[in-house]
Amino acid sequence: MATQKTGSRAQDAIALLKQDHKTMRELLAKLEEAEGRERETTLKTIEHELKVHTKIEEDIFYPAFREAAEKEDDNKLYFEALEEHHVVDMVLPEIKDTDIDADEFPAKAKVLKDLVEHHAEEEETEMFPRAKKLMDRAQLMELGQQLADAKASLTGGAKTRR
Ligand SMILES: [Fe+2]
Ligand SMILES: [Fe+2]
Repeated sequence: MATQKTGSRAQDAIALLKQDHKTMRELLAKLEEAEGRERETTLKTIEHELKVHTKIEEDIFYPAFREAAEKEDDNKLYFEALEEHHVVDMVLPEIKDTDIDADEFPAKAKVLKDLVEHHAEEEETEMFPRAKKLMDRAQLMELGQQLADAKASLTGGAKTRR
């Protein structure tokens, strides 16, 4: 087989986005448990991961989904997803402005976690299954490649940042 080995396995768009979600869930759980300086470093990683993930969705995956959309409900999913990203964007500065030693910190971390988890859950149970119906395998693989490339360029080619 003529598969290209470029360091990362080829993934379809949905597998790639789901993997990001898994990473995000772990980071958010970690933030909730974190104390002191670990709150700051974990929050920084979350902010970076969220920025990259939402950007590649908004630039590549969501437009492709909308393009493939057939029903009014598909459009609704598209707009809801964008709004939920927007809410996360509003909540994130709140927690960044909170002192890491403040009593409010874990509460704000919990709200961020619930928000992001709810959104990821909706994508995984509603938008992604619809995308699988609306797009064929080749299209999802092609999108996966585009997402991976965009991710690599946004992270300077590095897989993770510390
Ligand atoms: Fe999203
Ligand atoms: Fe997502």
